[in-house]
Amino acid sequence: MKKINTGVIGTGFIGPSHIEALRRLGYVNIIATADINKKVAKEKAEQLNVDKFYGDYKELLAEKSIEVVHVCTPNHLHYPIVKEVLLAGKHVVCEKPLAINPEQGRDLLKLVKKTGLVAAVHFNLRFYPLVQQAKAMIEAGEIGDILAINGSYQQDWLLYRTDYNWRLESEFSGKSRAVVDIGSHWLDMVEYISGIKIEKVYADFCTFFKTRKKPVKSIETYTGKILKSSDYKDIKINTEDYATVLLRFNNGAHGSMTVNQAAAGRKNRLAFELYGTKMSIAWNSENPNEMWIGKRDSKNELLIKDPSIMNSSVRQYSSYPGGHAEGFPDTSKQLFNNVYKQISAGKEPGFDFPTFEDGYRELILCDVIFDSALKEKWKEVK
Ligand SMILES: NC(=O)c1ccc[n+]([C@@H]2O[C@H](COP(=O)([O-])OP(=O)(O)OC[C@H]3O[C@@H](n4cnc5c(N)ncnc54)[C@H](O)[C@@H]3O)[C@@H](O)[C@H]2O)c1
Repeated sequence: MKKINTGVIGTGFIGPSHIEALRRLGYVNIIATADINKKVAKEKAEQLNVDKFYGDYKELLAEKSIEVVHVCTPNHLHYPIVKEVLLAGKHVVCEKPLAINPEQGRDLLKLVKKTGLVAAVHFNLRFYPLVQQAKAMIEAGEIGDILAINGSYQQDWLLYRTDYNWRLESEFSGKSRAVVDIGSHWLDMVEYISGIKIEKVYADFCTFFKTRKKPVKSIETYTGKILKSSDYKDIKINTEDYATVLLRFNNGAHGSMTVNQAAAGRKNRLAFELYGTKMSIAWNSENPNEMWIGKRDSKNELLIKDPSIMNSSVRQYSSYPGGHAEGFPDTSKQLFNNVYKQISAGKEPGFDFPTFEDGYRELILCDVIFDSALKEKWKEVK
């Protein structure tokens, strides 16, 4: 397969995981990275053995040999940077959320259609092997008609008032936090696997910590030291730590999603339970190699990830035999493989990955959920 040259903008947490996943494909050259924090840019380029690194992403975009750009910066920069990537004639993989409001998302979608470039959003959690298996079983009619979908996405990294990150400032994350940051993955996954669409929502939001303590210097500065109260300043928080959203789907099914970023002990747990007229399935991302299958008239089953017993249509999404666990880093590898095959194939459609249409859909859903919480009313998804 022809080698493809790529650049990655933003090398904090997720940027390096894009690079690792791309390298596993075997046909992607990482030409350069860019990070506004020059220290981070240099350290990560050295750690990841990337020859070129920039402080200004515009210099990366000026590299003629780069065909694809991954945008891994905080949310508020997705729109302006992705726009520049597309105008530079390069394919793009944008982290979620695609932008910080639906208007920006619509603008990017229009631009993608005009340029004909390949544009993907990194809703990577779709690519756990057993999530693909769930989708295949639903499509094959094994679950029957869907009656209800319930679930949650919970984490505990914001349990303490002193926990801090740019995501807590709406200027950088957008007006909603927990729903956009983690709920968007759940909503994307559930619509993707079930094939049904959310039509109406009723949301209840809570900000457990109305103020938080922001470190006045970089947290790294304090590594190994005990922080004093003078090392923090109080910051007002105007985004939600928690939300429960009632859902109605276009086939008549009902559902609910809870997101919580202050759930002690839940490290990073996306869970869904899907109830059909023939059977049920349940899965969660902290135990991703097992799927529970619930039956009324016979024994329940526990499906352990094993490509040889998965539906043949999705076997390709499990690269290792049964008993060899696959996890978070594998999901990006599978997603990128489809995106880059699409790039190689040119105009031929056919590879499955989350597109800017999907990214725009999530922006609309999250916006309606926010509006419902604000007005304390059922809201329709237009
Ligand atoms: N798909 C997933 O599972 C997943 C997981 C984590 C994060 N994300 C998304 O990835 C994005 C980044 O999150 P993160 O956790 O890696 O954040 P992070 O803070 O760890 O990293 C962001 C990096 O972007 C850099 N940056 C900021 N402004 C820049 C600019 N103008 N030019 C170049 N670099 C700039 C920062 O210096 C930082 O190193 C977010 O949008 C987040 O929602 C997705």
